[in-house]
Amino acid sequence: MKLFADTAIISEIEEVSEWGIISGVTTNPSLIAKSGITLLKAIEKIVNLIDGPISAEVAEGKSEDMIKEAKVYAKMHKNIVVKIPMTLEGVKAVKALSSLGIKTNVTLVFSTSQAMMAATAGATYVSPFMGRVDDFTNTTDSGFKLVKDIKDIFKTYGFKTEIIAASIRHIDHVDQAMKAGADIATIPYKVLKIMEKHPLTDKGLSIFREASKN
Ligand code: G3P
Repeated sequence: MKLFADTAIISEIEEVSEWGIISGVTTNPSLIAKSGITLLKAIEKIVNLIDGPISAEVAEGKSEDMIKEAKVYAKMHKNIVVKIPMTLEGVKAVKALSSLGIKTNVTLVFSTSQAMMAATAGATYVSPFMGRVDDFTNTTDSGFKLVKDIKDIFKTYGFKTEIIAASIRHIDHVDQAMKAGADIATIPYKVLKIMEKHPLTDKGLSIFREASKN
């Protein structure tokens, strides 16, 4: 499973890019608002930090408007993936963009039928939202089941669309994304930062430190 950073904050992307294991970035309007810069400025900076797919989201609306906006982002850099909301207009836009060779990431996916529609339209990626599904159902495994079901269905029907597990809130979601077979997990900075941690690693290090003093 590839690891993407789910943030538009440049200092965070700078930091995680140095680890050498982050192979893409996803943004959305909420993340752009938090970053304090415009989407266009963010794209300009992020493409120089991570050499991999960078998702830039269009405003929800009519397919022709989304296509127009998508073309602007796609022209900016070869790594741009246009994020399109999961609506019928979005599906129409994905179909048109995929025939132009523009990569798309269909976002706000909460069901297998939505994922199948997006994949049929030619989406490069679909983004099921694990955390929000868990919140909605008040469970801890609905996000896992959603990703796993989409994975199984894509395999059954031979869809090439990759699954980006999104709306990841904690390490258990990362674990579930791997077990469900997500191709990618897009992970917020605060979760990326704690993924290396385990109390037994700290304890082991302290035992080794003590031992090396003797
Ligand atoms: O990748 C989508 C993600 O940013 C949404 O996360 O926590 O707002 O559900 P959240």
